[in-house]
Amino acid sequence: MSFTLPDLPYAYDALGPYMSRETLEYHHDKHHLAYVNNGNNLLKGTEFEGKSLEEIVKGSYGKNAGLFNNAGQHYNHLHFWNWMKPNGGGAIPGELEKKIAEDIGSVEKFKEEFVAAGVGQFGSGWAWLTLKDGKLSVTKTPNGENPLVHGGTPLLGVDVWEHSYYIDYRNRRPDYLKAFVDHLVNWDYVAELYSKAV
Ligand SMILES: [Fe+2]
Repeated sequence: MSFTLPDLPYAYDALGPYMSRETLEYHHDKHHLAYVNNGNNLLKGTEFEGKSLEEIVKGSYGKNAGLFNNAGQHYNHLHFWNWMKPNGGGAIPGELEKKIAEDIGSVEKFKEEFVAAGVGQFGSGWAWLTLKDGKLSVTKTPNGENPLVHGGTPLLGVDVWEHSYYIDYRNRRPDYLKAFVDHLVNWDYVAELYSKAV
């Protein structure tokens, strides 16, 4: 299976003022496209041709760094576009809200931990809400890694590479993360991933 770049699930200017058209044009049309193109080139002739994206991500981790970086980022970005929506944030579907309260303490505590994980990721990477062994937790990973390669399921992730926020927030990563959790998260998509994983 080769990688393809899907269209954004909303208009380029739909996430303003929290994420601008210019950011989405660069991030989706250039950065994500580069992961798709590089990934396809690096996939050719490897044992991973014909495998699913998840299998490629898990299988190439620690074995084929070039392929892993691009396949991992392709996986992460496919979800990232869906982890946001216009007028996002807000109420969390009941089952998931209950699980967050049980495992993390409260929704407020989750938000604090999630923002802190993103702020605390030195350099490029991602912060996550991860389901592992039946339990939710907040984690972070460098570069293109994600919870899949650590035995977990990513339910929500935020891109903290500078290309995700520098146009809109310059160096203010904490402000970007706060806007993401308060105004952008598509909790329906997170809940859908949660229900598939349990
Ligand atoms: Fe990105």
